[in-house]
Amino acid sequence: MNKVRFGLVGGGFGALIGRVHKMAAELSGSAELVCGAFSRDPIQSKKAGVELFGIDPHRAYPDVETMCLMESAVDESKRAEVMIIATPNHSHFEIAKQCLNSGFHVVCDKPMTVSVNQAQTLAELVEVTGLSFGLTYNYTGYPMVRQARRMILDGQLGEIRRVSCEYLQGWLANDLSENKQAAWRTDPELAGPTGCFGDIGSHAENLVSYVSNLEMKEVCADLTRFVPGRRLDDDGTVLIRFRGGAKGYISASQIAVGRENDISLEIYGTKGSIEWKHSDPNSLVCRRNGEPLQIYRSGGPGEESVSRDHGLPAGHPEGFIEAFSEIYRNFFENIRESSEPTFPSVKDGVRGMRFLETVVTSSEEGSVWKSLEGEAT
Ligand SMILES: NC(=O)c1ccc[n+]([C@@H]2O[C@H](COP(=O)([O-])OP(=O)(O)OC[C@H]3O[C@@H](n4cnc5c(N)ncnc54)[C@H](O)[C@@H]3O)[C@@H](O)[C@H]2O)c1
Repeated sequence: MNKVRFGLVGGGFGALIGRVHKMAAELSGSAELVCGAFSRDPIQSKKAGVELFGIDPHRAYPDVETMCLMESAVDESKRAEVMIIATPNHSHFEIAKQCLNSGFHVVCDKPMTVSVNQAQTLAELVEVTGLSFGLTYNYTGYPMVRQARRMILDGQLGEIRRVSCEYLQGWLANDLSENKQAAWRTDPELAGPTGCFGDIGSHAENLVSYVSNLEMKEVCADLTRFVPGRRLDDDGTVLIRFRGGAKGYISASQIAVGRENDISLEIYGTKGSIEWKHSDPNSLVCRRNGEPLQIYRSGGPGEESVSRDHGLPAGHPEGFIEAFSEIYRNFFENIRESSEPTFPSVKDGVRGMRFLETVVTSSEEGSVWKSLEGEAT
């Protein structure tokens, strides 16, 4: 397939995730970076385009507006087709709108927006334009996460009763306002209505929904700001009642001293259970009633969920960037070959924002149960 040409918004000097997007998109083997608006600062944007990414200086644009305008005028055979958004949360909505309205497919980082209203507006725009929209809930790209989902969809665990997911980090245990990444994540104007939950609880919500295939009905949340002076939550736990009767919780923290990016998931059904940890992402622990414990391995016997054309043989460690790349591979296949979308979509974005808004309301009102339609129960 012809390489998909993409532009990148964000990813300038000192940025965290932009370069991961570039690596992951290119690792899919079917894409190349052709343009971008890499920084809020127009001079830094051009400099980053040339020095960090080695693109044509004429296509390192000073801002998103100019990028959309100028790229639309580039010959169709060279023009960017997809715009990737890797900027702080508050800017996703306007940038995504601008890109979609200019005819570009979009891949956006999470959380999709900073409100349900914005998320719904984007979903409508995606529908109207007919363009593809992907979200980088990248943990769903791990082979063993997909294996877990497949096993649950096949009924191998029986009826699901209990789901728990933790995402623990410790890097915000102290005031880090001098740190670039911490500064915007702890500022409600830039991060949105929630700190820790928007940043990493959002990944947990997506992982739980994707693997369990259950719909959350009600949540009861207790968010805390532990670090003095901090304006957004840095820790929290959410009890969940799912449609159909299953129960569970999501716990997320950025003050869990010593923890890195420790996301883990456990799901228990009537016949068996699964356990997956980001610290050992190529293993999936499976327990079944009356049987010895089994450990599935990426590329190993019994793995059904991922085409091994794209992975390495079992035992060669694959990780974060490969999982991220799997999302891109699915996205690029969708736009090139009209394949079924198997990547997180704008619908995940709307559901994710509804979860975050409801969690914040529940916690602010004294940890009361709230339906995900927003009505008190
Ligand atoms: N999927 C993941 O695992 C993951 C991991 C980290 C961050 N993220 C998400 O990615 C996004 C970026 O996070 P980060 O940690 O890389 O942030 P960052 O602060 O490290 O980098 C943001 C970059 O965007 C640029 N920028 C800001 N506004 C811009 C604009 N209007 N036009 C062009 N460039 C602009 C900044 O100059 C900077 O280069 C956030 O939404 C975050 O939640 C996702």
